[in-house]
Amino acid sequence: MRAVVFTSEGELALEERAVPEPGYKEILIKTAAVGICGTDTHVFDGEFEGTVFPLVPGHEATGTIVALGEDVNSGVFDFQVGDHVAVNPSTTCGECEFCLNGHQNLCRFWNGLGVVASDGASQEYFTAPASNVYKLKPETDLYEAALIEPLACAIRGWDVLPRRLGDHVLVYGAGTMGLLMAQLATRAGASTVTIVDLNEARLKTAEECGIELRYTSADEADREKWDVVIDCTGNIRAIEDALTRVKPAGFFQDFGVAPADRTAQFSPFRVYRDEISIVGTMAVLNSFGRAVELFEAGAINATAMISHSFTLDDYSQALEMFRKGEGRKLQIRPNDTESRVFL
Ligand SMILES: NC(=O)c1ccc[n+]([C@@H]2O[C@H](COP(=O)([O-])OP(=O)(O)OC[C@H]3O[C@@H](n4cnc5c(N)ncnc54)[C@H](O)[C@@H]3O)[C@@H](O)[C@H]2O)c1
Ligand SMILES: [Zn+2]
Ligand SMILES: [Zn+2]
Repeated sequence: MRAVVFTSEGELALEERAVPEPGYKEILIKTAAVGICGTDTHVFDGEFEGTVFPLVPGHEATGTIVALGEDVNSGVFDFQVGDHVAVNPSTTCGECEFCLNGHQNLCRFWNGLGVVASDGASQEYFTAPASNVYKLKPETDLYEAALIEPLACAIRGWDVLPRRLGDHVLVYGAGTMGLLMAQLATRAGASTVTIVDLNEARLKTAEECGIELRYTSADEADREKWDVVIDCTGNIRAIEDALTRVKPAGFFQDFGVAPADRTAQFSPFRVYRDEISIVGTMAVLNSFGRAVELFEAGAINATAMISHSFTLDDYSQALEMFRKGEGRKLQIRPNDTESRVFL
């Protein structure tokens, strides 16, 4: 089978490899789709903490079960060959302080498939621990379902925000994550959802996803302050601007990943005087199962969010296109023979 391999920092190759064998309580999956996101560019550039090269990238994956390792169904699971599945890429040690106090996403030995030290899904077949595999309904679109992993991150984001009926929510960034946070906002009780992005094409997708208030700057909006303001850009200017838009008693969420060595300015006086809460959120925590259910219930407009699929041969092109901010969600479909554009 063929696999895209990040061989070292900034280098990748398309390699011929043996199909992996599923180990004890592991499942072998034929890959349907794997989303590209900012994490893949950070891993490729050697900026992700702990990455071990060579590594097959790809952590937003779906596929079909082709083989079960030993003892997969000896406990609660009932997986069968042919099942359609989505995969939670996070694995944790189960032993550290954070695993033991319910913050497994902060595990000191956190390992993401395709991110840290275990191969991901940018290959024709991949293996995953059975406890990371979630069964999908046969009628669920297996390609669109690759949005379940980012949706699980967005649900975790909402888990640490207030969910009050009637709140006004402002989201910076209409990329995949901003669009997901904004689409979940009404389910979290928001009476209005405003989204800001410098890229007008992204605002068009926000419109298709049902987000009513869309601007290239929050200055254009008909209000000055919001109860909940979420940064989904990782851009320092956006974060600094966002922090000034939070209502007294409101929340700012740092969802976007800013460069590790950058700092941002804010008014500590306003945080004190207005009792503003600043919260972080990191990846998936106990939210993958809910993401499967919400996805299958139609909580997001997946069709509007995906613009391109690429074969393994075109992996570099997908990475370059992501860096330029072109298109919407870009996917790799390792078993496809041609790359496609969805208008
Ligand atoms: N916290 C988590 O668990 C988690 C999970 C996944 C992704 N992320 C992070 O979330 C961020 C968004 O991810 P994405 O996949 O949607 O990325 P993306 O690049 O597709 O989207 C970012 C959007 O922000 C817009 N933008 C950039 N600067 C801006 C500014 N100053 N003002 C307004 N808009 C601006 C861009 O035009 C783009 O549309 C990234 O930083 C990513 O690393 C965090
Ligand atoms: Zn991702
Ligand atoms: Zn741990």
